[in-house]
Amino acid sequence: MHGSNPTPMAFRSNGPLTGTVAVPGDKSISHRSLMLSALAVGESVVEGLLEGEDVLATAAAMRAMGAQITRGDDGRWRIHGVGVGSLLQPETAIEMGNSGTSTRLLMGLVASHPITATFTGDASLSKRPMGRVIEPLSLMGADFTTSPGGRLPLTMRGISPAVPIEYRLPVASAQVKSAVLLAGLNTAGITRVIEPVPTRDHSERMLKGFGADLSVELDGTTRIISIRGEAELKPQHIVVPGDPSSAAFPVVAALLVPGSHVTVTNVGLNPTRAALFDVLRMMGGNIEFANRREVGGEPVADIVVRGSTLKGIETPVETVASMVDEYPVLFVAAALAEGRTIARGLEELRVKESDRIAVMAEGLRAIGARVEELEDGMIIDGTGGETLPGGATIAARLDHRIAMSFAVAGLVSKADVTIDDMAPVATSFPGFVDLMKALGADVA
Ligand code: S3P
Repeated sequence: MHGSNPTPMAFRSNGPLTGTVAVPGDKSISHRSLMLSALAVGESVVEGLLEGEDVLATAAAMRAMGAQITRGDDGRWRIHGVGVGSLLQPETAIEMGNSGTSTRLLMGLVASHPITATFTGDASLSKRPMGRVIEPLSLMGADFTTSPGGRLPLTMRGISPAVPIEYRLPVASAQVKSAVLLAGLNTAGITRVIEPVPTRDHSERMLKGFGADLSVELDGTTRIISIRGEAELKPQHIVVPGDPSSAAFPVVAALLVPGSHVTVTNVGLNPTRAALFDVLRMMGGNIEFANRREVGGEPVADIVVRGSTLKGIETPVETVASMVDEYPVLFVAAALAEGRTIARGLEELRVKESDRIAVMAEGLRAIGARVEELEDGMIIDGTGGETLPGGATIAARLDHRIAMSFAVAGLVSKADVTIDDMAPVATSFPGFVDLMKALGADVA
């Protein structure tokens, strides 16, 4: 578990970044690949699975509930599923590490199976709210005993038959949406989720791909997602595209370091995920998409980035959910831009792996950026391309994206930026440091 044996690293400026790199597989799609394959009858094969700690936690959990999961020497993962309705009672507590996605989606799966499961997590995950999934899953009939504040560790008792519900999402969260849809898989009748603000739609795409009877209707911009339960899922061959949330770090680094020219290949550009690249272009970023194609039912392209002078903007509120994990690194971009950036509508950032508004504001100030923290966002007055003073140690607080964001900031600072612990980066982006070094970053 991270935190006990920290890995500090210093990042410093070292001239232009150049080269072509590929980022690991998409984390959201990787989790869902394992979960849905584990519920299909027969063998599924997954290529390009993210082998990060969060996804490995999902693999271990699915094994504990009966699936056979192996990794071949060819890097392909093979999953023998148990069938919807046939998950086994795990013998011990399910250790979720740092992974909110694993926890919330698995809670959905357990909710409609007649099994009891205990979920535990690290210090970061144990602070995160689970009430948002407990509420709809309780309506479906599951029962919960939680730590104070509806947090981990918690024990839940699923139920079969569960009760189908129609649930309007009170927060824009793909995790909550997915938890209800996954619970609906083993619930007789139609389970419906009403989504006023669109969030990542990998669950819908993949559930359909596995053969579930799922439909999406639009009422204005509100999405109404219906799934018919007691589904039979058919095994699939899945190719996982590169994670746009990981690509964000080399992309922003290449924009900020003058003279850079970087290509990140095979990046997933699902419109419910890729708004960061549009916002960076609105800021004047030189970003091109080459070789557009489809991989595993998702739009994919190679992203070609050149060092650019960025301009501050008011970030669009409509697309917050489509770049929710990318704000930390966007704040770094804004700190180097010309003029003011105002980013609002970001309440959800306060309940991620850390309070990303507070932690980013504190860290950016420590390296000399001018920022004002707002309840729901941040105002940043950029340097206009000048390097930041740097010269501070940042507490990453078990948050991979905080660590990687300040690593990028170090590349455009006069004095080193030290991250107190880079170990949590392995949750989502194993190989991050080597990839940045391959592009020319100076890391010690
Ligand atoms: C995810 C959804 C998002 C995101 C997380 C992954 C998913 O969380 O922050 O990294 O795979 O469904 P919320 O749905 O809670 O916003």
